[in-house]
Amino acid sequence: MSDEIIQLETPFQFNEENMKKVDELIGRYPIKEAAMLPTLHLAQKQAGYISPAVMKHVADLLEVTVMKVKDVVTFYPMFFEEPVGEYVIRVCQTLPCALRDCKVVLDHLKEKLGIDVASETNLAKGTTEDGKYTLMKVECLASCDVAPVIMINDDLHKNLTPEKVDEILNNL
Ligand code: FES
Repeated sequence: MSDEIIQLETPFQFNEENMKKVDELIGRYPIKEAAMLPTLHLAQKQAGYISPAVMKHVADLLEVTVMKVKDVVTFYPMFFEEPVGEYVIRVCQTLPCALRDCKVVLDHLKEKLGIDVASETNLAKGTTEDGKYTLMKVECLASCDVAPVIMINDDLHKNLTPEKVDEILNNL
């Protein structure tokens, strides 16, 4: 990633509160790099997504290369390199959920929100115009006994039906 690209981005810095958390995280590990995942989670929470400027800031703090940060961001599906909605809705599509009508839940969400499912290379097509929701398909969320399930940000919702989905969205 060239410096030229980074300079075109809005600069990023942790706010005071998050910087304290990062310092505390770094202090827990023998090497700074080990704090990469929680630091990136904090960065994504503050910035909304992991832009090149965010990667540069995290790399500087953890004393690693920007490419190393990029590798981690690219590897884990919970990190986004483009803007996403305030609420990221992940619909499990693996077999146990598929056998319990997750497609009905997904189709209901698509219709209700008026969007398609986001893909790794096109998050915008699965994001509402007001920037409120992003809809994604994911693999097993480790809650097969209560299928079908979705996650909205960090919260799991189980045994879903279209009616339950409406209730959950109304309460967000
Ligand atoms: S298959 Fe959906 S939670 Fe496991």
